[in-house]
Amino acid sequence: MTQRNPPRSLSTDFLIVGGGIAGYQTAINLLPLGSVTLVSRGSIVSGSSYYAQGGLALPWGFGYDAVESHVADTIRAGAGLCDPANVRVLVEEAEEAYATLVSLGVPFDRDSAGELLLTREAAHSRPRIIHAGGDKTGSLIVKTLAQNVHGHERFTFLTPFRLHRLLKEDSGRVAGGLFMSEDGQEWVSVRSGATILATGGFSALFARTTNPPSQVGDATAVAAAAGAQLERLAFTQFHPTVLDLPGQVPFLLTEALRGEGGHIVDQKGHRILFRYHPDGELAPRDVVSRALWLEARNRPGVKLFLSVVHLSENYLRQRFPQVYFHCLEAGIDLSREPAPIRPAAHFQMGGIRTDMDGRTTLSGLYAVGEVASTRVHGANRLASNSLLEALVMGNRVGRTIASLRAEGDLLPPEALEEGEPSPGATHEPGALSLEDLRILLWEKAGIVRTEEQVAMGEEEVLAALASEKTGETTPKEALLHNALTLSRLLFEDLKTAPRVGANYFVESRNSWGGSSPDSAHAGSKEKTV
Ligand code: SIN
Repeated sequence: MTQRNPPRSLSTDFLIVGGGIAGYQTAINLLPLGSVTLVSRGSIVSGSSYYAQGGLALPWGFGYDAVESHVADTIRAGAGLCDPANVRVLVEEAEEAYATLVSLGVPFDRDSAGELLLTREAAHSRPRIIHAGGDKTGSLIVKTLAQNVHGHERFTFLTPFRLHRLLKEDSGRVAGGLFMSEDGQEWVSVRSGATILATGGFSALFARTTNPPSQVGDATAVAAAAGAQLERLAFTQFHPTVLDLPGQVPFLLTEALRGEGGHIVDQKGHRILFRYHPDGELAPRDVVSRALWLEARNRPGVKLFLSVVHLSENYLRQRFPQVYFHCLEAGIDLSREPAPIRPAAHFQMGGIRTDMDGRTTLSGLYAVGEVASTRVHGANRLASNSLLEALVMGNRVGRTIASLRAEGDLLPPEALEEGEPSPGATHEPGALSLEDLRILLWEKAGIVRTEEQVAMGEEEVLAALASEKTGETTPKEALLHNALTLSRLLFEDLKTAPRVGANYFVESRNSWGGSSPDSAHAGSKEKTV
């Protein structure tokens, strides 16, 4: 057994876990109130927001009509599970979030007259998405936020560390976290007045994903182990247009390409989506992904492509530089030929249950961004509402914490008993690996499933958990344990969650042919197993 160093102990007013847009936006709000320690598993910016291409949805114009139509589109895409009051808060506070980004210096794209360029994405009834660097919106926002935080005298950055356990006071209040370095050699115990999780979703638990490999829901499982309520785990959004080249990591081809007139076609050049939805390529994301899945299943040998050959090379280079050059390097010139596509796991609508102030069900613990379930996305998120949620909720958590702090609440504890590393899970050689688990989830909890598949998937996960031993855990083993725990909760939720939107079931493998998969979006007998 290796000898570990005893944990270092730190104290901070506010502890944020996660270095994406949600984490940094929260940090910007909290730095005026006290010291902030941000812990990240990666480099200065990490998580999925860096890779967000499409943009930021705004009720552009910010008048009554603009707000009402953004609210209505969000609720319609959400397929019956949005909380309408929460959606309204999200949209009404978009203007404040946008103004802050502009004041911090995010270079949103504008025309020669200085007017913002707006684009459209699926299920939006009008163009309202702003973008930066063409298709580099996520990276430019998160870098700008990070630049405004790093170097601040009250800011401490700790990396690369993963959250091992939440620390609690005797009262049950969460008062910090115990972190393990990525090499397992160093432990840091951080005491805090408020602990904010901004660690993103868990789409990398699926074999095919647009997310970076770190997004396996590690911190979500840690929060669950501490007693935080999770919900709506059954609702994973699969993005339809993800580059599909043999041996290559899936790469997102932004929905904005369809907003700019891109078509989804088969190898004969026939558009397929109008058979599934009257809005064709601009149908809600869950509908489009399901349609692609069903086409592939029902028409053996079919190949599906995203075609933007109507756009010039010059335009593509400027408007979609990231996508254009990535495809070019892979041997596809998008101005001349279509790109092969297949859906991939992209976003979680559910997660750690919070209210619209970011409060979880555990005192002292907050969650912001994709890690949280605020119910604003319902059963299927509207395109480009994710960055908006991270920004708006970062502001709201900041305000919640500011008012508690003003009342003299939220001080870090003097000391905590629990800051010692404790034994964790270990796995026998040959047991289910993280890679095996990712394939299992893709196959048994993917875009379309049957009850039998879910039962089989759950059984395998339970068997893997039952075979774990207790001992001195390594980061890899702790991560696998958390991934298994989260998968168990996901399979459990799949059995009972409402079957709408992204939670799509069919009766048996034999019923995969035939009727329109879009009927599931509106509610049909096919989705009732
Ligand atoms: C995309 O650019 O297609 C992704 C944007 C989103 O997830 O809303």
